[in-house]
Amino acid sequence: MTHKDPKQYQRDTHRAADPSGGALTTDQGVTVDHTDDSLTVGERGPTLMEDFHFREKLTHFDHERIPERVVHARGSAAYGYFEPYRSCAEFTRAAFLQDPDVRTPVFVRFSTVQGPRGSADTVRDVRGFATKFYTSEGNYDLVGNNFPVFFIQDGIKFPDFVHAVKPEPHNEVPTGASAHDTLWDFVSLQPETLHTIFWLMSDRAIPRSFRMMQGFGVHTFRFVTAEGRATLVKFHWTPKLGVHSLVWDEAQEIQGRDPDYHRKDLWEAIASGAYPEYELGVQLVPEEDEFAFDFDLLDPTKIIPEEQVPVRPIGRMVLNRNPDNFFAETEQVAFHTANVVPGIDFTDDPLLQARNFSYLDTQLIRLGGPNFSQLPVNQPVDAVRTNQRDGHGQHAIHTGTNYTPNSLGGGCPAVGGGDPSAFRHLRTHLEGQKLRKRSASFEDHYTQPALFWRSMSGWEQRHMVDAFRFELGKCDSRQVRARTVDQLAHVDHELATAVADGLGIAAPDRVDGLPDPRPSPALSLENLRGDGS
Ligand code: HEM
Repeated sequence: MTHKDPKQYQRDTHRAADPSGGALTTDQGVTVDHTDDSLTVGERGPTLMEDFHFREKLTHFDHERIPERVVHARGSAAYGYFEPYRSCAEFTRAAFLQDPDVRTPVFVRFSTVQGPRGSADTVRDVRGFATKFYTSEGNYDLVGNNFPVFFIQDGIKFPDFVHAVKPEPHNEVPTGASAHDTLWDFVSLQPETLHTIFWLMSDRAIPRSFRMMQGFGVHTFRFVTAEGRATLVKFHWTPKLGVHSLVWDEAQEIQGRDPDYHRKDLWEAIASGAYPEYELGVQLVPEEDEFAFDFDLLDPTKIIPEEQVPVRPIGRMVLNRNPDNFFAETEQVAFHTANVVPGIDFTDDPLLQARNFSYLDTQLIRLGGPNFSQLPVNQPVDAVRTNQRDGHGQHAIHTGTNYTPNSLGGGCPAVGGGDPSAFRHLRTHLEGQKLRKRSASFEDHYTQPALFWRSMSGWEQRHMVDAFRFELGKCDSRQVRARTVDQLAHVDHELATAVADGLGIAAPDRVDGLPDPRPSPALSLENLRGDGS
């Protein structure tokens, strides 16, 4: 990377030629002399097939839309850079986390999950916080959300969950966070959803601005050093402006007055030079302490309480440039949890494993074939040398042979065996029977929602009670309402009673023997605690 901002340089090389001052042409570069009337027989006669400009113009227009994302369809994005505070070589060999003098270009897309592309910004929903780091060793995508936990533990439930959240199939009336029977039916039958539902009913689900919103990688990942030593890691983004929410009434009013509120806020802040900034922090757990917790680190419905493992800030990200073209960049960007670089690896979190399949799979249809990584926003800044060929939308003119092993050379890249910069999957020892069975260590669905609930101040708890009453109040099925309130009683009886009261249904029975939600005392991870810097 020889340019100060290699991504910007790359974007500039892809920019369409400035058309102003030149004559209008067809796609074939033929100058057009008239574009307001089609070619007809006489002034009132039929349009002629011969009118190639007319046909090309309409055909292109007819194909302007591509499928929106199956989730996270509505989003806004910006370019910027990331710089580490100091070298993280002790934990990871990832090149972009080594040198505080090296700025890595980034593209960040914020999104809502449930609504379509044209939906309002200030709805009660989870927000996506996806970051593409264009590193010197290839693209690294940290595809996170603004909640630290997720609704389900195993990716095989994702289609069920999203079907329950999305609009009703018969009339396309939205359900999701803002109602109704299908979501609450699913929640009441699948208590692993509860922790994230608590976040969803809290004020965290209506951020005031993307600039004032946290981001989380959610899953436990792995850092890997040059020597091959792994450390378990959770990622946190913290906004420099602090975390702020709208209250429900504000959010409702803004939805009516300005459905593009968050989108405009981000755009205008960057355009005026008030660049949003976020700190990247990590919670680090040595591999040997994987089982030191009373929950499973592979369970994405759990946080690691910060009393047990503090968050260490490792760098900062600044967003300082708006995209030039919404479709080309914000719409065509393709994030994927499997886009990792040397020094970052996966764990066996069953939700993460599913995501590692799903993103590429959906992008093959959304972006029309296997060559979308050639789109400017998706292109790595580092050289790309593959034996992948052909396919829809192939832009590269490859030469030479394209297979391996290969004694003829002629353009075929060498395979990186022995290259110290190559990605190598962490060697882990695994054995077990093939089975479909969730680990017993994933079974406690109530301790952490209780921890969350009890961490709230009185007015935050009141907002949550109001949210549960409002959302569950839109659920027609008495059975589903009662079953959900019973689930709440497994977390906190006063909360469940207050919600039942608002819904006009009987208070649930008290649940005996609930787990103590207090986190166990801090682990002795002295080597990781450091000075918190
Ligand atoms: C988008 C699948 C869980 C964050 C998407 C998309 C799919 C998907 C298919 C659309 C991608 C595209 O069209 O480019 C899944 C599956 C999950 C899962 C199968 C669980 C098994 C999660 C979790 C998070 C998350 C746990 C957060 C940690 C995102 C974000 C986007 C997204 C931020 C939007 C990316 C963008 O801005 O383009 N997901 N997802 N997803 N997902 Fe997930």
